[in-house]
Amino acid sequence: MSPQRPFIRLVLAVSLDGRLAPPQGGAAQIGGRGDRRLLEEALAWADAALLGAETLRRHGTTCLIHAPDLLDARASEGRSPQPTALVASRSGSIPEGLPFFQQPLERWLLASAAGATHAPAPAPVGFDRRLALTSWSPTLQELAQLGIARLVVLGGAALAGSLLAEGLLDELQLTICPRLLGGPHTWLPAGVALEPAVWELREQRALEGGELLLRYGCSVSHGCSVS
Ligand SMILES: NC(=O)c1ccc[n+]([C@@H]2O[C@H](COP(=O)([O-])OP(=O)(O)OC[C@H]3O[C@@H](n4cnc5c(N)ncnc54)[C@H](OP(=O)(O)O)[C@@H]3O)[C@@H](O)[C@H]2O)c1
Repeated sequence: MSPQRPFIRLVLAVSLDGRLAPPQGGAAQIGGRGDRRLLEEALAWADAALLGAETLRRHGTTCLIHAPDLLDARASEGRSPQPTALVASRSGSIPEGLPFFQQPLERWLLASAAGATHAPAPAPVGFDRRLALTSWSPTLQELAQLGIARLVVLGGAALAGSLLAEGLLDELQLTICPRLLGGPHTWLPAGVALEPAVWELREQRALEGGELLLRYGCSVSHGCSVS
């Protein structure tokens, strides 16, 4: 029986006041070296890494694994050096000149179906594959069928909110960074209607620079395939 959907872990660096970007917005660099290692470990665990189109437009790139031990471990398991990069977009509007398109990884676009036909739309320039994204469940099922069992979600807030609203996150991995940022950019957008869920603490670890890892698991199973 094919899995219903991948196991999904959200990975974010957030300030003490729960912000993921400074008040003016823009490309946030909130985490330090400890957080960077955790991020790369999460990428090394994952088959694919999903990010929101706005995060990609603002940063221009996605996160890569650089640590030699993590790259070696993936190679010894016969896996690609980097997880597949998945970009979620309703508009499908990703500027072609972004350095993302030069990064050494596979790129798939998850976008609303173009036009009125049901034929699969071709992958836009720079992407290796395009999957229709009208709602999460069928798209996640398709990802599972394509061999994506472990999915890390890299944010931002709008993307995290849309998955949480459907009860689709299995783990929240937050690095709490010792900064207060203020402003409107909370890691979950205001007004998201959340599925009721109970979160249990699975890991807590002090990191260098006064950062703290907190990993919570959702105690309700939503049909994911692995852990
Ligand atoms: N601290 C951290 O760890 C961290 C991590 C990531 C991002 N950030 C920060 O977060 C900010 C960006 O976050 P954001 O909330 O503004 O944007 P975002 O979540 O990165 O991207 C939002 C966009 O993603 C697409 N999208 C979201 N949900 C979708 C769905 N259900 N179906 C289809 N497409 C969907 C849409 O793309 P279209 O507009 O193309 O339709 C939407 O406009 C930046 O400042 C970034 O630096 C921080």
